[in-house]
Amino acid sequence: MRILGIETSCDETGAAVIETTDQHSLVKLLSNVIATSLVLHAQTGGIIPEVAAREQLKFILPTIQQALKDGLNWTYAKTDQIPPIDALAVTVGPGLIGSLLVGIETAKTLAMVWNKPIIPVNHLYGHIYANWITQRTDGRDTDSSEICTPLSVVSFPIFPALALVVSGGHTDLVLMKKHGNLVWLGGTRDDAAGEAFDKIGRLLGLPYPAGVTISKLAQQGNPVAFHFPKPMLHSADFDFSFSGLKTAILREVQIIKKLDDITIANICACTQQTIIDVLLAKTFKAAEKYKVKAILLGGGVAANEQLRNQFAVRCSESGVRFFAPAKNLCTDNAAMIGAAAWYNNHQTPIENVQANPELYFD
Ligand code: KG4
Ligand code: ZN
Repeated sequence: MRILGIETSCDETGAAVIETTDQHSLVKLLSNVIATSLVLHAQTGGIIPEVAAREQLKFILPTIQQALKDGLNWTYAKTDQIPPIDALAVTVGPGLIGSLLVGIETAKTLAMVWNKPIIPVNHLYGHIYANWITQRTDGRDTDSSEICTPLSVVSFPIFPALALVVSGGHTDLVLMKKHGNLVWLGGTRDDAAGEAFDKIGRLLGLPYPAGVTISKLAQQGNPVAFHFPKPMLHSADFDFSFSGLKTAILREVQIIKKLDDITIANICACTQQTIIDVLLAKTFKAAEKYKVKAILLGGGVAANEQLRNQFAVRCSESGVRFFAPAKNLCTDNAAMIGAAAWYNNHQTPIENVQANPELYFD
């Protein structure tokens, strides 16, 4: 089955073609095109929803055309031509309403014109299902810094598995009993992990989004130079809270007054380690309780090298399999939407495919 995935939940416009054979094989990535309006949002230090939606409109058709060209060598020549795909998959939420609508209305129109089924996809499922995507084997688009185990999620019994989604908008722990059976265990009560990186970056004068920059600067810093709070570390639930960390760093920055490079590096190293410590503690508490066989990471923050390394070590010590998507598939992309659609193939009448900015786990 070939699926054209479309992702426009925030500031990335993604289109990808994936190919699947059966449930026991990984999803093959034929193309994965992403256009981003991040440069505009860096100028304002955050995303302005109207600006993101307008950029989605500019990018959506060229992005889809490029994905069909790259993956299937298909170009639009005549109006009666239909690309060799079996279905379209589109993100219906959560996300920014204006951005979501651009992808959804485009997907619905193409589904109608091409007479193809359409599969609505929860963006958060997408981040988890990025773990089921294999990269091209022709050397293009591979990620050499991949540290996750080479064992694939389809080769071994992995259920029950625990998924940790850590992105700019979400921090969620999800128990996965089998495909499509996802139970939300807990999440952030305030800032998401990625949001904490971004807001702390702003306090330090770093460009938006700050996750990557903080992780680079952290390499020169001392991760025990400061002792920042780890709220809810020992709470009985599986919830998180990261806004206190930002406030603690704000106070520190106000006291220090002049930030030199070493202090910034130390704050970055401590920020990163504090967030990792909390994510590790809560995830392994849930892993023990539910006796999971595997832990899966997903979302933009899952591209963090230290986070991946420390999860890999803890998993191997605990005898739990560890998976993380290739780094380029951690941040928003449409390939993960196609993969989630394949494993949760809920084809829906076009008129029932609607944007739901507040969509969550059931
Ligand atoms: O999944 P994503 O692309 O978008 C959302 O669905 O939110 O995640 C973006 C987030 C941003 O907050 C960004 O700072 C963070 O992921 N991020 C990182 C890293 N790369 C991206 N955070 C920490 N370390 C990284 N290497
Ligand atoms: Zn995302």
